[in-house]
Amino acid sequence: MKILVFNEEKKLDAYVGETICDFIRQHDQATIGFATGSTPLGVYQYFIDSYQNHKVSFQNVQAFNLDEYVGLKPEHPRSFASAMKNELFSHIDILPENIHALDGSKEDMDEECQRYETLIEQNPIDIQILGIGMDGHIAYNEPGSPLDGACHVVNLHQESIESSLDYGFDHIEDVPTQGVTQGIGTIMKAKQLIMMAKGEKKADLVKRMIYGEVTSDFPSSIIQRHPNVIVCLDQEAASQLKEEDYEKR
Ligand code: F6R
Repeated sequence: MKILVFNEEKKLDAYVGETICDFIRQHDQATIGFATGSTPLGVYQYFIDSYQNHKVSFQNVQAFNLDEYVGLKPEHPRSFASAMKNELFSHIDILPENIHALDGSKEDMDEECQRYETLIEQNPIDIQILGIGMDGHIAYNEPGSPLDGACHVVNLHQESIESSLDYGFDHIEDVPTQGVTQGIGTIMKAKQLIMMAKGEKKADLVKRMIYGEVTSDFPSSIIQRHPNVIVCLDQEAASQLKEEDYEKR
């Protein structure tokens, strides 16, 4: 595991953004996994700027979203599909047919999960962007999720429901109580993981993710078992790590 700690948020976003742009430029086809939430927004702005400055094209990119709320149609303004469209996809030249996501409004969610799992098996993810939730989740794999799980529906934990207020819901009662997510097993099949965390509130979680026991009680700890993972942190999120364990940027 490579851990990089950046003294400026802009540098962190540019590093992750450029790593992925480089990969896209060097391959005829690139399959990238995208996370929603606040942490990767600077990276998505980096992609938009790079595209607008003709430094990269996304026409050869297949995009896979990590997760979604159950009960919201993709076009609902608070869905993760809408968030990805507004924050990134509508500003770059990615082909609409290459944007893939779980649809949380399907009547048969088991069938929807199977469809998405199969699609990912057919299009293995080259680089997966990840963030860490306030209960240690990755994607919407809440504590207790099986470490080898496939796409599935989950009951969201209270921390996840409360964090959703940052994503534009006006009232806590408006937040769906279930999510649908790539499983930990699905995520672990990605060829490379880029885990990002920013801010003091993530410091304890980052410490447990990196030094703690690998356990389904703390799903993000699974990244310790991935053979190709880069953890990109700001100084606040890294504040509980030993300096000898990371590289300063
Ligand atoms: C969202 C996702 C979540 C977030 C995590 C951190 O697609 O996968 O696991 O990455 O909840 O969210 P932020 O970045 O808002 O702190």
